[in-house]
Amino acid sequence: MQATEAPAAKSCAACDCRAIEFLESSIGKKIMVALAGLFLSFFLVVHLAGNLFLFGGAPAFNHYASLLEHNELLPVAEIGLVVLFLIHILLAIRATWINRAARPVGYAVYRGKGARTAGSKTMIWTGLLLLAFLIVHLKSFRFAPEAVREADLYALVVHAFRNPWYSGFYVLALVGLGVHLSHGIQSGFQTLGLNHPRYTPWIKRLGLALAVLLALGFMSMPIYFGFLGGAK
Ligand code: HEM
Repeated sequence: MQATEAPAAKSCAACDCRAIEFLESSIGKKIMVALAGLFLSFFLVVHLAGNLFLFGGAPAFNHYASLLEHNELLPVAEIGLVVLFLIHILLAIRATWINRAARPVGYAVYRGKGARTAGSKTMIWTGLLLLAFLIVHLKSFRFAPEAVREADLYALVVHAFRNPWYSGFYVLALVGLGVHLSHGIQSGFQTLGLNHPRYTPWIKRLGLALAVLLALGFMSMPIYFGFLGGAK
């Protein structure tokens, strides 16, 4: 039997709170995890595109960073990101917790079509690795002293990557990102109901391609500056 959360759709006596009932149900939470994950993947595409300016040298990257910093919409986007990360991380951890409590022994191994992949089986572990990465990453760059960030963000990033342990941790975490997204993107679309014999194989292929592109794209930076002696 599929182990899921107990049906949680409580009725709201005072008003017709269908939306609240939906958000409280286990499928509602699953849809929120999927939507937040897909929006975060979109953020990663934009973030990767911006970070590619690193390969253009200090003037190009610092100019890009300064344009971003002075954009009036940045605080709104940052609050949106925090909300998306919180929804995605907290609800995904909660669902894993509840499912494991309901199914302590685990399923018998099924090797047929639709069997669980390495990506789907390790979502919680790659997710926790990415959470650790995010804490280190934000502390290094987003929450570095304002004066240092404003003086030369490019130098801050390149200097951090010159530490092989730091760059090595990035490469490891970015392998985790690739594995996480290789399952996450296609699974997110399926959760949203985009399931069709003709389109699903394409969604799976494109999801995998995007996962590989994002992981390799981000990885190119610690590898170039950390191990290949870039920008000396
Ligand atoms: C490996 C290549 C990466 C580089 C060089 C990089 C660089 C940066 C820099 C310089 C900032 C600070 C920007 C600023 O404050 O103006 C930043 C912020 C951020 N990065 Fe990355 N990043 C990388 C990968 C990632 C990945 C893989 C994730 C997510 C899993 C991520 C998530 C974030 C978030 C959430 C912020 C805060 C955005 C904001 O508050 O505006 N980054 N990154």
